Amino acid sequence: MLNPQKIRKDFPILRRRINNYPLIYFDNAATTQKPKQVIAAIEGFYENHNANVHRAVHTLSQEASELYENAHEEVANFISANDMEEIIFVRGTTEAINLVAYAWGLRNLKSDDEVIVSLMEHHSNIVPWELLSKIGKFKIKYVNVNNDGTFNYEDFENKISKKTKIVCVSHVSNVSGVVNNVKTLAEVTHEHGALILVDGAQSVPHLPVNVKDSDVDFLAFSGHKMLGPTGIGVLYGKHEILEMMEPFQGGGEMIREVSFNSKLQRCSITWNDLPWKFEAGTPNIAGGIGLMEAVKYLRRIGMENIKRHECVLTEYAMQHLQKLPKAKIYGPREASAKCGIIPFGIGGLGSHDIALFLDNYGVMVRSGFHCAQPLHQIFKLQSSVRVSFYIYNIREEIDRFIEALKEIEQI
Ligand SMILES: Cc1ncc(COP(=O)(O)O)c(C=O)c1O
Repeated sequence: MLNPQKIRKDFPILRRRINNYPLIYFDNAATTQKPKQVIAAIEGFYENHNANVHRAVHTLSQEASELYENAHEEVANFISANDMEEIIFVRGTTEAINLVAYAWGLRNLKSDDEVIVSLMEHHSNIVPWELLSKIGKFKIKYVNVNNDGTFNYEDFENKISKKTKIVCVSHVSNVSGVVNNVKTLAEVTHEHGALILVDGAQSVPHLPVNVKDSDVDFLAFSGHKMLGPTGIGVLYGKHEILEMMEPFQGGGEMIREVSFNSKLQRCSITWNDLPWKFEAGTPNIAGGIGLMEAVKYLRRIGMENIKRHECVLTEYAMQHLQKLPKAKIYGPREASAKCGIIPFGIGGLGSHDIALFLDNYGVMVRSGFHCAQPLHQIFKLQSSVRVSFYIYNIREEIDRFIEALKEIEQI
């Protein structure tokens, strides 16, 4: 079982008061807070081991390299990848998706090909494909989302065909919290000979994710949404696919050899082994080490426990929100269909007004369209207020949040 009171003691920021109220942090889908163990790991790296990786033979560089490689191993185990060769460290989900778009898509998508993208995606899984289609001239087919925010599986089956080369879909919506059945989507995708890229930004931090079981080809996620630091994220890719791909960016670290041919006046280059072939330049070493500590922290708690805790909080919050006469919850009504995220609105009030009002009571929520405008179009909304929970949130915080909303309703 997860003990949120014990967990809260690990998060120094939760001691803060904002506007004379204890901080209530309900913006976890945007980024999570950091436990002292992660902060200490980053500090410990800079205090004791700081050096560049994979370059020098001296002790510090050996230590830094070992820690950085261990971080890849830890992440590989966390999502049940075969080994660290399938784990590429990037800046975050956005960079991971761009890596697939440019390193795989640019070379593999031809003018008759089709890419399937769902309409519940974060802009970071829409814009790279739209940008690339201007070069590659392939067609993008968007899969509809039902009015309650759930994925339209029927529309997906109608749109996928032999022309489809890649399916790009999120595991969990960052607006509604809807959880997609990525295992089924991967099965259907593979039956059509295509690849599947899953945006795991909102699933990997909150649910057990097993890439072997779901059989996805690529999985992208961000360290900062799972207790880790900003500037570090992960692209998982199946070994055989990554081997076939050309690199994303060129520079140091990603090459084995660069040799100059004076007759041709050209350099011939061979690539480094996986995963370094995709990590050009000096990587975010401290970020990787911070992420390793975050993953260890999550594993100690257990991902099933985290999922259950968030589900209980979501159900509790939804029950109380539904009782407010002017509040309207968007997306599915059942907490079991979703994962720790609730979008809502109150009467005719603007979402930023609601968020600012809540801020007066020390409650941090997100307002706006959460980088997912197409999904807001489906909900017929300009914007929404979003609460999103994590391991350190407790029922008492939801009670205070509901009390503040009751006051807003009086306005
Ligand atoms: C579902 C989803 N995908 C992608 C992203 C982008 O993540 P990052 O900004 O860390 O690259 C987010 C961030 O909110 C997200 O929620």
